Amino acid sequence: MKITVVGAGNVGATCANVIAHKELANEVVLLDIKEGTAEGKSLDMWQTAPINMYDSKIIGSTNDYSKTAGSEVVVITSGLPRKPGMSRDDLIATNAGIVKSVTENVIKYSPNAIIIVVSNPLDVMTYCAYLTAKAPRNKVMGMAGILDTARYRAFLATELNVSPKDIQAILMGGHGDTMVPLPRYTTVGGIPVTELVAKDKLDAIVERTKKGGGELVNLMGTSAWFAPGAAAAQMVEAIVRDQKRVFPVCAWLEGEYGLKDIFLGVPVILGKGGIEKIIELKLTPDEKKLLTDSAVAVKEVMDVLDKMEKVA
Ligand code: LAC
Repeated sequence: MKITVVGAGNVGATCANVIAHKELANEVVLLDIKEGTAEGKSLDMWQTAPINMYDSKIIGSTNDYSKTAGSEVVVITSGLPRKPGMSRDDLIATNAGIVKSVTENVIKYSPNAIIIVVSNPLDVMTYCAYLTAKAPRNKVMGMAGILDTARYRAFLATELNVSPKDIQAILMGGHGDTMVPLPRYTTVGGIPVTELVAKDKLDAIVERTKKGGGELVNLMGTSAWFAPGAAAAQMVEAIVRDQKRVFPVCAWLEGEYGLKDIFLGVPVILGKGGIEKIIELKLTPDEKKLLTDSAVAVKEVMDVLDKMEKVA
């Protein structure tokens, strides 16, 4: 089994490292456009194998997609990351061109691959890959919800001084300031979070979660990588091990939640078929409104992409 990660920047390299470490495939290919970067990082990672005791081979490639041939899952992380003061949407023009050409190459060598997009603006780059790949909707998805939920869960674990393992949560919508954490579906060891955290504190955590990526960009001068890389690798794991995990994933909607022709974060079952099922929750009118507002924000950026496509 082969898994490819395109883009050997911080997120891509971290993702490949986690994939190898968990031995999700016997071959992990890391590809980048920058001469030597993927080869160097792959060699460095491979040299951790005797220390960390794994045997997944890691192969680096400078833009030679033939090395990715026959990949079962491909993670696309290519594109520019955010700088302070930039929104994810500011990246659209540059990253759409990159994601399009990467997807063409990926599909050329791995026509049956399941594609996980990580590039920003996430929902719209996933749409870009979907348009390019012309694959069924269960096979093209975006990674955002696991990351955003992980941030939300980590903040709650700190607030309550409990293990993050015991925080279960779901979050929907786009990967931006309009994302919709759902406290009603958040539990701590099975106990509703609303019984343990005061409303004002919980509201503050929800707000911090929505801006969680931006907080890190401001601290580091570039976007995050440990949690994004690990989150993408968790999706790969659910797929290659056919785990049927329930995660929020950026998926193409065809009427679910009353929304269609849009990529948006929703709970799904992830297994060897990719998105095997979209789970439809019964949202309250307030939650529904937040989700619809998020859909409007994502759709605006999708429209920008559609217009660019027509010009191109
Ligand atoms: C973040 C980027 C990866 O949220 O979108 O950190």
